[in-house]
Amino acid sequence: MAKTRLACLLTLLSTHCYFNVLAVVLRTANNSPWTDEFDKVELSCLIDSISTTNPRIEWKKITSEGPSYVYFEKKISGDLANRAEIRGPATLLITNATRSDTAKYRCEVTAAGDHKTFDEIVINLVVRVKPVVPKCSVPKSVPFGKSAELSCVEEEGFPKSQYQWFKNKEAIPEDPKANFKFSNSSYTLSAETGTLKFISVRKEDAGEYFCRAKNDAGYSECLPQAMEVYDIDVVGIILGVLVVVTVLLCITVGICCAYKRGYFSSQKQTGNNYKAPAKGDGVDYVRTEDEGDFRHKSSFVI
Ligand SMILES: *[C@@H]1O[C@H](CO)[C@@H](O)[C@H](O)[C@H]1NC(C)=O
Ligand SMILES: *[C@@H]1O[C@H](CO)[C@@H](O)[C@H](O)[C@H]1NC(C)=O
Repeated sequence: MAKTRLACLLTLLSTHCYFNVLAVVLRTANNSPWTDEFDKVELSCLIDSISTTNPRIEWKKITSEGPSYVYFEKKISGDLANRAEIRGPATLLITNATRSDTAKYRCEVTAAGDHKTFDEIVINLVVRVKPVVPKCSVPKSVPFGKSAELSCVEEEGFPKSQYQWFKNKEAIPEDPKANFKFSNSSYTLSAETGTLKFISVRKEDAGEYFCRAKNDAGYSECLPQAMEVYDIDVVGIILGVLVVVTVLLCITVGICCAYKRGYFSSQKQTGNNYKAPAKGDGVDYVRTEDEGDFRHKSSFVI
């Protein structure tokens, strides 16, 4: 400031400088500073030119709800009260930034004695927030050839988290073709949404999966979770069905033989006595038509 005035005095006849001396002109070293949460950050507001000795300096925070005072009548006010101070004539230093400090800030200087009495400068502050541990969802067991979806969500991070998936500790490329190990896999992966989607799961897709949520402030990961891939074994299913059918046949044949030899005759009588009145007539008729033969035979045996 002093230097500027000296320079202007030296070139006294320059109209440009003459104008400057009578005007308040602000400048910033950085109009879009950022910091990590709980760190300090400087909102630089430099007075390039002023001739008024005791200008009025104010800072306002501008959010969607409108402007509010941050520095007014030489006092830090509002939410920043114990976390900020003024350095130099007008620079605002936030000593312990929080995520809610992310906003636009306006430095306003009024110099009553100048020809141009007012200037302002807007600074866009971003307080970055490290992601917290994301919520990951990995299906435990997926049938071979079916689709599967793995999801990863983290909502604290600022700027918004980007996602990365790992299989057996190895980063999964966004394009399967990028790594030969994944080149036969049928997945799509979105770094924006955190979704890893298999269109058709292969045996080789089984493994331990975890996700990382990251932004400029850092990253966090969820614990690895296993995904198994099981076969729908057609041969096994057919064999199983055959075994069950065989067993049922044996039982049926066994029961028939038992009927024929009369082993059930006494049980059947008591069974009939109890069952016949309890059941609906219609149902009974349908059934007895099929079993009629045996009944007749068994009654003959008696
Ligand atoms: C910053 O603020 C947080 C809470 O807002 C507090 O836990 C932390 O101790 C503060 N750090 C310093 C250096 O004051
Ligand atoms: C991918 O599939 C091809 C053809 O089936 C096979 O030759 C190749 O070894 C497979 N690659 C991997 C990494 O499994």
